[in-house]
Amino acid sequence: MSDSFRVAVLRGLSRRPRRIPSRFLYDRRGAELFEEICGLDEYYPTRTECALLDRHSPEVAVLLERRQPRLVEFGGCSPAKARYLLETTRPRAYLPIDICRDALAAYASDIVRERPGLAVQPIHADFMQPFRLPPGEGPVLGFFPGSTIGNMQPEQAVRFLARIRPLLGEGGAMLVGVDMKKSHERLFAAYNDARGVTSAFILNLVERINRELEGDFDLGGFAHSALYNAGRGRMELHIVSRHRQVVHVAGRPYRFRCGESIHAEDSHKYSVEEFQALAKRAGFRPAAAWCDAEKLFCLHFLRPQE
Ligand code: AVI
Repeated sequence: MSDSFRVAVLRGLSRRPRRIPSRFLYDRRGAELFEEICGLDEYYPTRTECALLDRHSPEVAVLLERRQPRLVEFGGCSPAKARYLLETTRPRAYLPIDICRDALAAYASDIVRERPGLAVQPIHADFMQPFRLPPGEGPVLGFFPGSTIGNMQPEQAVRFLARIRPLLGEGGAMLVGVDMKKSHERLFAAYNDARGVTSAFILNLVERINRELEGDFDLGGFAHSALYNAGRGRMELHIVSRHRQVVHVAGRPYRFRCGESIHAEDSHKYSVEEFQALAKRAGFRPAAAWCDAEKLFCLHFLRPQE
């Protein structure tokens, strides 16, 4: 991992505009800060999605015609969210997939302890790359919560869904949590929280570079910026240089002008129709879309097209 981190950082700092893939935000510290973000008042997605799962996961079981699925969770390790589907769909096996081996192993042993009857088959893999599911009976219910799909570029999201579709098997489906377009004020607040947790989360990327790649980023010389790009329908999160400066990483110098940034993350927001159009391009048939009353967040139930 740290080798691919090094390659991505050196490449990302050399290109213009500068950009480092957002998956590198999630080292141990980044994962802790993200957990904290999920509990913030301003960050509505987590609690809204949990309420939607609470309300609609019985309907998921009905749509699966009560056939017990194998529940495959992408970016597993979110016990709070999987719990609703474990209760209602009573899967014959639960397969959380995660790139982080330690977190996955710890999570799997917790869940085995909590639910002794459940077959838990953790899969250590980067689901952005091709991977296989172990053979098993029953339809697959793919669960991709948290609007992580919004962190992909739309074309990447289409390719991801198209690659997953053949894994679902007969009667299978995907349940995808997607953050929706809304007032810019609401979005701005969610990514510029008063306590500065999001700022710490984004700036942890340069702290990580200092820790792991012999970087000398002066943390006071950079600021977090999160703005809505209406043309592209996404929040854009940047690490902005407050003044002219030279930073060294792995012995190489990188010059920053005042205001120049490293693009650290995009978070796309989709109306129901926009996401359904994207899913159709990946070969899915939208079968249900459940939104909260304020239209903040949506759970999409998708069937592979015959
Ligand atoms: C993980 N992902 C869906 C979050 C989001 O809202 O795009 C990551 C995040 N970045 C800043 N705050 C939350």
